[in-house]
Amino acid sequence: MTDTSRVAVVTGAGRGLGAAIATDLHAGGHRVALLDLDGEAATAAAKALDPAGESAVGVAVDVRDPAALRDAFDQVRSSLGVPEILVNNAGRTVPRPVWDIDLDEWDDVLATNLRSVLIATRELAPAMRDRGWGRVVNMASLAGQQGGLVAGAHYAASKAGILVLTKIFAKELAAAGVTVNAVAPAAVRTPVMDAMDPGQLERSLATIPVGRLGRADEVAALVGFLCTEAAGYITGATVDINGGVFMR
Ligand SMILES: NC(=O)c1ccc[n+]([C@@H]2O[C@H](COP(=O)([O-])OP(=O)(O)OC[C@H]3O[C@@H](n4cnc5c(N)ncnc54)[C@H](O)[C@@H]3O)[C@@H](O)[C@H]2O)c1
Repeated sequence: MTDTSRVAVVTGAGRGLGAAIATDLHAGGHRVALLDLDGEAATAAAKALDPAGESAVGVAVDVRDPAALRDAFDQVRSSLGVPEILVNNAGRTVPRPVWDIDLDEWDDVLATNLRSVLIATRELAPAMRDRGWGRVVNMASLAGQQGGLVAGAHYAASKAGILVLTKIFAKELAAAGVTVNAVAPAAVRTPVMDAMDPGQLERSLATIPVGRLGRADEVAALVGFLCTEAAGYITGATVDINGGVFMR
């Protein structure tokens, strides 16, 4: 079936995977709102897709802030229309040993990575349910499946939380034509890796069966597929994209 043009919201879309996902959805004919804490990056990424701002807009928002998220969604509804696709991608990675994480940092990472998924989904999914069609994709991580601690225990715990929240929303919304899935990437080349210790990066490369890092456009193509009509029978799933690092 040919895909209808929809309104899509992608959080954390100023760079990295989020920007690639927004690009893929836009190329698929959707109108896309790119949300990011870095408003300038979000606006620049939106302008690169559509300089006229008709089919792509950048919105500055902190996903930790429920009121700011609500305002951002109001802006999207008035500029592009009612969102029927939501990609919860914004995330914060803080590599730190579990023993050294202070509680404020713990709360902040959980608020950014996990609570934002709860807030955004509860804001946007009811309209999808009422319209009888919707797609929600949540960006998880191998760390949330295996407890990898390189990215921080708070990060891993937030991503594990995303896996179960995905199933909860999937069950709530399945009968209404709204699918909710998680994508679990590992070792995909994005700006977040620039901060990693080169030795650590080298060591993780050696553990990837495919023999290279993943590309953002590969993750974007997977997310894009989960947002199609054709993917309507996939829900509550965690789809791995990790070069074979974790097979189950
Ligand atoms: N790159 C990988 O290999 C990999 C692996 C597993 C999971 N992921 C997940 O994929 C997602 C994207 O990762 P990435 O590598 O592109 O990271 P990135 O750091 O390059 O991009 C994350 C984006 O989220 C934005 N952001 C952070 N906090 C925010 C907030 N409070 N409000 C709004 N926006 C905020 C940042 O400004 C940034 O633009 C993240 O959820 C990450 O955990 C990435």
